[in-house]
This record gives sequence, structure tokens and C-alpha cells, in this order.
Amino acid sequence: MSDAPDPVYLRYSGAPPAGTRLCRLDELPKDGAKGFLFGQDVRRFDMFVVWRDGKLTAYVNDCPHAHTPLDYMPDRFFNLEKSHLLCGTHGALFRIDDGQCVAGPCRGRRLTPVPVHLDGDMICIG
Ligand code: FES
Repeated sequence: MSDAPDPVYLRYSGAPPAGTRLCRLDELPKDGAKGFLFGQDVRRFDMFVVWRDGKLTAYVNDCPHAHTPLDYMPDRFFNLEKSHLLCGTHGALFRIDDGQCVAGPCRGRRLTPVPVHLDGDMICIG
């Protein structure tokens, strides 16, 4: 048994456990992002995966400013230049690699990461 603390994302209601399969890598848009919903109502968990420059990252879809989802349309997580993640509610910009907010009303705060890995061609949590 590990002494490592549980990842923060597991504090969110409805968060799926490690090993949960999300989708095949080729189902993600090239250099894009895709959202995933689990559960409903108070047990609803909303997250997204980014596939960019050969690297996978994932975050809870929960802006640290006012706790709205980032995507203003389904699976639209980038600014126009595709240089940062964008919160469509008030325009905060987040670094893709670590979720740090670099502009906007929650500057200095971070998105909550969700650990993901590839199991063959399947993207899985954990
Ligand atoms: S809710 Fe995201 S910037 Fe305000």
C-alpha cells in the first residue's frame, strides 16, 4: 500500500478511479482536446484530456475562478492561437502543460490535474 496522498481530483464528487478507460488515443482530435463526463447531478464529474505535441495531460473541467466548465462549446478548450487553455466564461488563460493560470481573474491559480496514461492505445486514468 502506498503512503502517497490521494490525488486532489479524487476529492471531486463522482471522480472515477484509477484504471478507468476514457477512449482510444486516435479518438482525440489531433493536437486537440476532448471532454469526458461521468455521473450526473451532484455526482457529476467533468474532465478533459489534451493531446498536444505528443503529450497527454488532463484536468478537471472546473475553472478555479467561478467553478464553471472551461469549454464554451463541447471540446473547445483552446484560445484562438491554440497556445493556451481558455475559460470561456471570463477569458482566463491556462498553460497547457501544468494548468497554471497566466492571465485573467484567477491568475496564479491552477486547474486540478487528473493523472492519465496510455495502456496500449487506450487512454486511462491513473
Ligand atoms: S469562471 Fe473561468 S475565468 Fe471566470
